[in-house]
Amino acid sequence: MKNIAVFVSGNGTNLQAIIDSIKKGVLKVNLVLVISDNKSAFALERARKAQVKALYINPKDFSSKQDFEKDILKNLEKEKVDLVVLAGFMRILSPYFVASYKNRIINIHPALLPAFKGAHAIKDAFEAKVRETGVIVHFVDEEVDHGPIIAQGIVKILKDDTLESLEDRIHKLEHELYPKAIELVTTRQFEVKGDKAVFKRG
Ligand code: GRF
Repeated sequence: MKNIAVFVSGNGTNLQAIIDSIKKGVLKVNLVLVISDNKSAFALERARKAQVKALYINPKDFSSKQDFEKDILKNLEKEKVDLVVLAGFMRILSPYFVASYKNRIINIHPALLPAFKGAHAIKDAFEAKVRETGVIVHFVDEEVDHGPIIAQGIVKILKDDTLESLEDRIHKLEHELYPKAIELVTTRQFEVKGDKAVFKRG
């Protein structure tokens, strides 16, 4: 079984979905570490409640971003982490960090990239009045909200949707999709070809 670490900054509903899938035996990975850059992230509570090692690492304790990331890397090595799972981690990882875990960092984004990058993707899609939006899980590369796609799902925007109802459906899809994508990445062989990850048959 592969060891995963989840990076968070906020509420942690995706972390919760991962924890629940592991508990149910559906997702077969060891969640060995949760790292937050935000002391008051509720995600840290969720990790502790599930008895998962949870670390708050304060970026301000370091004189440079690289030192902050080196500390994170040290912790990942200590726990023998195979895969880094970003779940609402509000910090951009440097090319140095990305290269250290090449094709071993994944992210979930609540829109169909390359449309609606950034921190307000659901609201931006809603306000743009597009007919459909969705969720993408992708490998992290040097560009923000960019990298080979692992899994995606579409969410139609309905006529009577409010931003809240749309958010609810997107989050529900995220919570289904992310554990499945983690299972895929940790159990199947794959090749990264251009902007797509091609998984070999299991
Ligand atoms: C999710 O919508 C995710 O797609 C985005 O940040 C949000 C995190 O939510 N990257 P949560 O902390 O998992 O509840």
